[in-house]
Amino acid sequence: MNILEIKNLSVEYKTPSSTVEAVKNVSFGIKKGETFVIAGRSGSGKSTLASALMDLTGIDGGKIKSGGIFYGGKDLLKMPFEEKRVLKGSKISMIFQDPQSYLNPVIKAGKQIEESFTIHNPKASEEEIKKRVKEVLKKVKLDDVERIFNAYPHQLSGGQKQRILIAMAIMNNPEILIADEPTTGLDASIQKQILDLIEELKNTLGLTLIMITHNMRIARKYSNTMAVMHNGEIVEAGNTEEIFKNPQHEYTKLLIGG
Ligand SMILES: Nc1ncnc2c1ncn2[C@@H]1O[C@H](COP(=O)(O)OP(=O)(O)OP(=O)(O)O)[C@@H](O)[C@H]1O
Ligand SMILES: [Mg+2]
Repeated sequence: MNILEIKNLSVEYKTPSSTVEAVKNVSFGIKKGETFVIAGRSGSGKSTLASALMDLTGIDGGKIKSGGIFYGGKDLLKMPFEEKRVLKGSKISMIFQDPQSYLNPVIKAGKQIEESFTIHNPKASEEEIKKRVKEVLKKVKLDDVERIFNAYPHQLSGGQKQRILIAMAIMNNPEILIADEPTTGLDASIQKQILDLIEELKNTLGLTLIMITHNMRIARKYSNTMAVMHNGEIVEAGNTEEIFKNPQHEYTKLLIGG
């Protein structure tokens, strides 16, 4: 069963000098419980597509030109504001590509983690907040919780920041987790730890995972299904192992080749 169905989605950015068609007439379905990788080189439209799935297109000046994103049979793009607000960040949540810019540099990490809970649970008591935050920090295996809680983002390592973002993303028990290049800028051993953590959480929490990467090795190791993006289009999609064994599109062959 498809948990998310994307139909004929097109997204563009208009700048004073030009129009960029970043996502062009893309259609695909994501099955409940799978890890779906969107692969492609820089600029192919991966993050634009991910932002659209969270209905965040407007934030950076983009515009959805056409199409629909169906969750539980309803088009997310046409939902009333309140319904959408509940959905975003709780049922569907996202780990953004750049943790540096996502975390607020002047607010302590602990407060930002708490806010990811209270924003969807405004009536929660101090005790409930503490309990939930503690639970989730344990899930993302952050050691030295006390210090991390009182630290500002710049006082934390890249790996710790990424674990905090993951904690914030799973805080409200999402069904779908979107991870946009979750290991950018981390060194190889930490990359593996973070990817293994995401995979473990996917299994223990029963998530459907949409992961974005330009790294074909990561795509192959972690996904069941993948879509290859090139110039805003999905040029090939299907079972990951089959694509690797028998790529159909020239661009896919190029990516696999190196
Ligand atoms: N805010 C924006 N305004 C104008 N153009 C944009 C904006 N964001 C992205 N683009 C353009 O849209 C296209 C797709 O960009 P996008 O960030 O989705 O690619 P990506 O596949 O995520 O790349 P990367 O791997 O580098 O993260 C690119 O041509 C990019 O220059
Ligand atoms: Mg991107």
